Amino acid sequence: MRFYLFLTLLFFCFCVVTPIESQNRGFSVELIHPDSSRSPFYNIRETQLQRISNVVTHSIKRAHYLNHVFSLSHNDLPKPTIIPYAGSYYVMSYSIGTPPFQLYGVVDTGSDGIWFQCKPCKPCLNQTSPIFNPSKSSTYKNIRCSSPICKRGEKTRCSSNRKRKCEYEITYLDRSGSQGDISKDTLTLNSNDGSPISFPKIVIGCGHKNSLTTEGLASGIIGFGRGNFSIVSQLGSSIGGKFSYCLASLFSKANISSKLYFGDMAVVSGHGVVSTPLIQSFYVGNYFTNLEAFSVGDHIIKLKDSSLIPDNEGNAVIDSGSTITQLPNDVYSQLETAVISMVKLKRVKDPTQQLSLCYKTTLKKYEVPIITAHFRGADVKLNAFNTFIQMNHEVMCFAFNSSAFPWVVYGNIAQQNFLVGYDTLKNIISFKPTNCTKL
Ligand SMILES: *[C@@H]1O[C@H](CO)[C@@H](O)[C@H](O)[C@H]1NC(C)=O
Ligand SMILES: *[C@@H]1O[C@H](CO)[C@@H](O)[C@H](O)[C@H]1NC(C)=O
Ligand SMILES: *[C@@H]1O[C@H](CO)[C@@H](O)[C@H](O)[C@H]1NC(C)=O
Ligand SMILES: *[C@@H]1O[C@H](CO)[C@@H](O)[C@H](O)[C@H]1NC(C)=O
Ligand SMILES: *[C@@H]1O[C@H](CO)[C@@H](O)[C@H](O)[C@H]1NC(C)=O
Repeated sequence: MRFYLFLTLLFFCFCVVTPIESQNRGFSVELIHPDSSRSPFYNIRETQLQRISNVVTHSIKRAHYLNHVFSLSHNDLPKPTIIPYAGSYYVMSYSIGTPPFQLYGVVDTGSDGIWFQCKPCKPCLNQTSPIFNPSKSSTYKNIRCSSPICKRGEKTRCSSNRKRKCEYEITYLDRSGSQGDISKDTLTLNSNDGSPISFPKIVIGCGHKNSLTTEGLASGIIGFGRGNFSIVSQLGSSIGGKFSYCLASLFSKANISSKLYFGDMAVVSGHGVVSTPLIQSFYVGNYFTNLEAFSVGDHIIKLKDSSLIPDNEGNAVIDSGSTITQLPNDVYSQLETAVISMVKLKRVKDPTQQLSLCYKTTLKKYEVPIITAHFRGADVKLNAFNTFIQMNHEVMCFAFNSSAFPWVVYGNIAQQNFLVGYDTLKNIISFKPTNCTKL
């Protein structure tokens, strides 16, 4: 079964699930950057420079992948949007089953569906945390071929054995993927206030054949995308279509974590909030916005409308899975010229040889201009920590780069220390400058 069928099934299942009683005030969970020392996947042997180099490389791969997805025919059904690679993704801890079994899922705002590795598996992901065994969960239920859910998909694959189970197969661009059973089980989130919150009968993919070409060691993916099948959609009325996150400094050795909010707690309001429409595009998976211009001092760099989308709307993807922000060539070169004209520091080469604009300085000392990202109706002021990465003790590089693509990937460095709120019912995304370490 192709991915979209998996999605179709998830949607269908979602419809028949009894709505969960509303979690009135909402709740929050911890979000862990895999390169933070708090992450279960932290590789102590890697240097800071290797980590940065990895996430920059990953950002480029991801942009290529997104381009592949977007450039498919507009009428095409949604395709998987990620090459999972935990190296620059945020992960969250959650539990599946009864009793709850703890897993670490890659949080991806660019995909739908929830899947993870299950026992038995062959081949398996290199998952260091224990693997979920569905036979140990009293609430785990396979979906059968005879169920209306499975019959609904025309090309639904039915297991070849006597069990007649409904199966899924997700194939990513690099031919890696996951195959397994479509099932339902209870999903439990550990809220930051200490109380677990359970959502019964969540449709999940329990993967028995998993071959992701990844160095990441997470157990699978949690899609936060726009489709009907993401965790956002499946939690449904209990979170009112709202989630938000606050990403604390990346690569921080300090014991700090980022946060993910659901429901009413995800409402971004108060002083300094700006909001811009989320654009409904042909491609449901991702969060598109209109980015109209950048400004740096007196320089204004306008972005052309993207030719990607028929009515020229939605030229920027807000992506938690990319680290650097990638701009169309002409936009990047104008922005770079403007920044160069305003920064009086010695230019040096990127020690990882990936980024174009680097200076010899330290994070504490450097002075760089504020760059404002002008989304439609929302001016977002980017500080130095949103626009530059400290590569090592003496070099910092511009965390923006040119890409061959006609659209913008708005990466997670640019989103650091903003409370970023998604309201999928009102179709807006809001940004509020916030010291995420203090939340
Ligand atoms: C898992 O790790 C082993 C050894 O490092 C490697 O050979 C293998 O390709 C990895 N598998 C996956 C799926 O990444
Ligand atoms: C999502 O659900 C809505 C109805 O709630 C439906 O109109 C829409 O087509 C669905 N989207 C996809 C991609 O299945
Ligand atoms: C980090 O802080 C958490 C509590 O916020 C604590 O449980 C944990 O042990 C700390 N880890 C380290 C490595 O200090
Ligand atoms: C950054 O842009 C330069 C110049 O276009 C290019 O050579 C380099 O590969 C790009 N690096 C990344 C990380 O995209
Ligand atoms: C956020 O607050 C912490 C703790 O007070 C402080 O050390 C840090 O510098 C602040 N970060 C920013 C970006 O203001």
